[in-house]
Parts: sequence; structure tokens; C-alpha cells
Amino acid sequence: MTTIVDVRARRVWDSRGRPTVEAEVHTGRGLGRAIAPAGASTGAGEARELRDGGARLGGRDVMQAVAHVQGPIRQALLGRDVADQAGLDAALIALDGTPDKGRLGSNAIVAVSLACAQAAAQAAGLPLWAHLARTGLPAGQAPRLPLPEVQIFGGGAHASARVDLQDFLLVTPGARSFAQALEWTAEVYHAAGARMARRGAGGGVADEGGWWPDFRGNEEAIEELARAIEDAGFSAPRDVAIALDVASSQFYDGRCYTLRLDGRRLEREAFAELLAGWVAAYPIVSVEDPFADSDPEGMRAFTARCGARLQIVGDDYFVTDARRIRQGAAEGACNAVLLKPNQIGTLTETRAAWDAARAAGYGAIVSARSGETEDVSIVHLAVGWGVPQLKVGSFARSERMAKWNEALRIEEALGAGALPFPAPGIYPAIHPGIHPGTGGG
Ligand code: PGA
Ligand code: ZN
Repeated sequence: MTTIVDVRARRVWDSRGRPTVEAEVHTGRGLGRAIAPAGASTGAGEARELRDGGARLGGRDVMQAVAHVQGPIRQALLGRDVADQAGLDAALIALDGTPDKGRLGSNAIVAVSLACAQAAAQAAGLPLWAHLARTGLPAGQAPRLPLPEVQIFGGGAHASARVDLQDFLLVTPGARSFAQALEWTAEVYHAAGARMARRGAGGGVADEGGWWPDFRGNEEAIEELARAIEDAGFSAPRDVAIALDVASSQFYDGRCYTLRLDGRRLEREAFAELLAGWVAAYPIVSVEDPFADSDPEGMRAFTARCGARLQIVGDDYFVTDARRIRQGAAEGACNAVLLKPNQIGTLTETRAAWDAARAAGYGAIVSARSGETEDVSIVHLAVGWGVPQLKVGSFARSERMAKWNEALRIEEALGAGALPFPAPGIYPAIHPGIHPGTGGG
């Protein structure tokens, strides 16, 4: 047993220049360190981060959360076995005592939970992915790289709502390796940038590094991405394809979906019609949060309509909550899950969400937040748990590139073990008949 001998925290800064929590967990065999990310388009059911309020730093400071790590959390974890992730996470949850982790702060809790895992890996003399893979992979599955999902244009809450949809993304189902997936992504990212420059709108980027959206309508962004794929010389959807994060909770008012840029206010059925039309007209293989977290009827109907040939991902819809995933699966909502550790608060609960997704036959994507840092823990989770897809934003800005580059290092360490890549059947549009959830095995 490796005991925790110290727990520390400090305020550091995220990719939006906002304060966030870094935690350190020390043992006699080194230390683990992790930083809490932060979302902008957060789901209503997410764990609650603790911000200090008041006037300073727009009320966003995290000194109370830092103090919680240094005080009560440290006291609760000192002397415990760092390898007992489930026990440590249970202690954090019990110490907080609220349903949304808002007392200690999900930012404090997730930083500590991830730092414990990092410290346990350090004590075992392994990189985190290898430490997790020892117990975390499905029986008989070798560790391999996830398929990247990379933002090309930003939008929604990450770009002052200049376009209503949040992410216009590229996936590379035809790539033979993670390295090749990134190379193809780079070609398309820069082709898209060149198109924007020719339109007189080049250079600027949104929160996650995707090109700043300067479009006359939402569909124009999809069209421009399809053209950039052509410019770069790829065939879609076989080699590369489009994914969308609609993040529709951001523009749903309980009755209608309002696409401000298009001047349209659409009820559930009309919005489904519009989305289904886009899916038919463009090489779109995955759509995230097409309907709002408060509109389960819309999500169920859209899944029934398009789910056989489209990956439908619940992000705000499931908020990485195993209970919500099980309920959604029972009701036929979505067929894939976004996994964000800070959305639920601990590593153990994130793992439970992945287990619930797998049990339902759902696909899964480990995801970063729009507010990120140099922390690369989530890349290790995807590899160590065998999650087939990874979404960490665009192909610019070092809080994003740090994660893509970490995946390259892991691919190199795995060597031939990283193949086959990617798992077939992630996208039903490309491999019809193979259920998305069964592709990872
Ligand atoms: P967020 O965006 O981190 O601002 O929530 C990411 C996403 O919606 O996938
Ligand atoms: Zn999302």
C-alpha cells in the first residue's frame, strides 16, 4: 500500500485566462498533479464548480475551492491508500455531502480525484494510461488509440453565438493510425483556414481553437467544412467525415429551437426535419446534443428517426451520469455518450458512466472542456479505459495540442499494439449494421 502523505492545491489559470484549481497528491513514491477544466455551455445537471463570487475576477476566483483541498480534503485523504481510487472518490463524495458537489466544489473534487490517479500511476512506475489499463480494459482488449474528433469551426457559446451550432468537427474514420488521423486533420484545418482567409475572415479563432465563425447561416458553416475537405483532397465520408455538436440546450426555450443567425424559430418536429436534412445532404456521421437536455421527447424521436445511421451523442443530455445514461438507454435516447470527468466530479463516477454506456451498447467519446489547460489526463483515460473516441477541441492552441501530442507519444509507446485503428463500426453511416457500441471490443 502506498499512503498519501500530502495533498496540496494552488490557483492556476485556464485557456480563457480564468482561475482554476490545480491539485497535487503526494506519496512516498512521487506525486500526481491535475487541473480542473471548465465548461461554457454547461448542462443543467452538471456537478457544480465553486466560484468565489464578488467583484474580483468577475466573481470567478477559486480560492475557496483551493482552501477546501488544502483543508478538509487533505485531512480526509491523508494516510489512505492512493491506489484505492473508488475508496478515495467515495470519501470525497461523502465529505462534500451534496448531490451536485457544490459545497467543496466539483473543481476541487475533480482535480483531486485525477491527481490521486496520477499519483497512483506514479507510485506504480507507470504512465496513467498503463496504470488504468491494468484493470480498466474490457477482457481481451489491448490498449489502443481513440479516434480523434477535432473542431474546425467554433461557434455557439465558444464564439459569442456568431453562429448557433457550437462545433463543426472533423473525424477521420479512414486513417490507419492516430498519427495519420492528425496529419489529415491538419490538412483540412488549414484548408478551412485558407477558405476563411479568401473570404476575408481569416486568422481569428474561437475558445477551442477552431476558426472564428464568419458565416451567413449555420448551414454555410457545414458547407464550408465540406468544401475544405474537398480542397484538402479527401473523400467523405470514407476517409474523413463531419461531426456536429449542436449544443442545442443553448438555444432551446422550452418550446422552440431558435437559430438566430438563420432567423428561424423551430418547434421540435421542424428542427428535427432541418437536422435530418443536413445529415442527408452532407457527409455527417455524428451529431451531439441535437435536442436539449430538457427535451427528452425530441431526443427520443430524433434517435428513432436517425439513430440507425447516425451517431447521436449525449453531452449536456447525460452529463456523464451513469443513472441518466441507463435511463436514456431504456427510453431510446441517443446511441453514444460524451464523458467529461468534471461534469460528474470523480474518476470513479466517470468510469461508471463509461460502464453504463458499454452495457447499453452505446458509443463513447472522452471529452475536454472549452476552458482547458496543459493537463493531459483525459487522453490517458481514453487509452487506459479503451474508450473509442477523443474530443479535445481544435487543432490550434497548446491546451489542445498538448493533448493531441500526448496521444502521439502513447501511440509510439504502444507500437504495433495500437493497431487495429480505428475500431470499425464507430459510425453507423459508414459501416451500417455494426452497432456503434460494439465497435470498441
Ligand atoms: P463546454 O463545451 O466545455 O463549453 O461545455 C464542450 C462541449 O459542449 O462538448
Ligand atoms: Zn457538447
